[in-house]
Amino acid sequence: MMRWRGVMEEFRKFLPITERTPVVTLCEGNTPLIRAGRLAARVCPQAELHLKVEGANPTGSFKDRGMSLAVSKALEHGARAVLCASTGNTSASASAYGGRAALPVYVLIPAGNVALGKLAQAMAHGATVIQVEGNFDQALAVGKVVCEDEGFELVNSINPFRLEGQKTAAMEICDQLGGAPSHHCLPVGNAGNISAYWKGYREYLAAGQIERCPAMIGVQAEGAAPIVRGHVVEHPATVATAIRIGNPASWPSALRAVEESSGAMEMVTDEEILEAYQWLAGEEGIFCEPASAASVAGLAKRSAAGLVPEGARVVCTLTGHGLKDPDIAVSVSPRARTVKATRDAVRKALRG
Ligand code: F0G
Repeated sequence: MMRWRGVMEEFRKFLPITERTPVVTLCEGNTPLIRAGRLAARVCPQAELHLKVEGANPTGSFKDRGMSLAVSKALEHGARAVLCASTGNTSASASAYGGRAALPVYVLIPAGNVALGKLAQAMAHGATVIQVEGNFDQALAVGKVVCEDEGFELVNSINPFRLEGQKTAAMEICDQLGGAPSHHCLPVGNAGNISAYWKGYREYLAAGQIERCPAMIGVQAEGAAPIVRGHVVEHPATVATAIRIGNPASWPSALRAVEESSGAMEMVTDEEILEAYQWLAGEEGIFCEPASAASVAGLAKRSAAGLVPEGARVVCTLTGHGLKDPDIAVSVSPRARTVKATRDAVRKALRG
């Protein structure tokens, strides 16, 4: 079996890179696409369901695909440093790839609203972590200005190379399925990823690799659903901190993806997100973070409303690993009991 070389080498002909572009990679991509029979029976028995497990990337989220390209390009341009605003995953990824490229990394995170695992990653990789008193939208606004002041490369998804790298997930799914799905569900925060997937599908169609593109279904959390509601949300709130965003940077291109694909933008409650999160971990063996489970919650909601046709072939992207947010996992699960180290005590505990 050939060794997987990361998204830049594997999808080189679809990417804006040359022989002079340095390749900064952690061999991201090639993540599992897993058939989910039990979950399908529960949420969409009329359809076929596959889960794209992006938590299996090197830093535990889909961001690595785009970060490989963005950091490589920053290096090619001779950037002094990279900076991002982040709800956590972008900062984890930027810290790893930037560190690998020997570039200083600065991350701006909304104070008190980043999951512990993500914060730990940025710190472990040696980034300068700055907590901003405000939400993600405010951190991004200030990050843009500071990058101009300092001549740093901004590696948020408004950096076009991020989306170029992330589009490879759509191409990979088509390769793994032997064709395009009919419907694709994914969580939407800053709206970069849905825009990237749509670009990937369209380019694969143009290259003759697939015969159709899927309907794109974006899913937002009810307390942070600016695109569904059609207006900026001043104070976004959701248990899914990764998508706690009230004014997405890629709003127009996300809307285009939904319109051009005859898809939809959906919203789900925190309760629905956590329910899907527990189904995934408990019944499919896939531990993702809450934001990721929004894709499945959105699918369940649309299927219950009769909006998923018989015979549909659905892919849900699970964007980040469950270990990113251990606090949530512990808080929604029964408490572990502590007993004496004796046969009797343990056997008694087995019975609850
Ligand atoms: N799922 C996870 C786990 C995420 O971390 C994000 C975004 C999304 C979904 C939404 O993707 O923004 O492209 O619509 N996280 C960003 C961050 C905002 O800073 O890590 P999007």
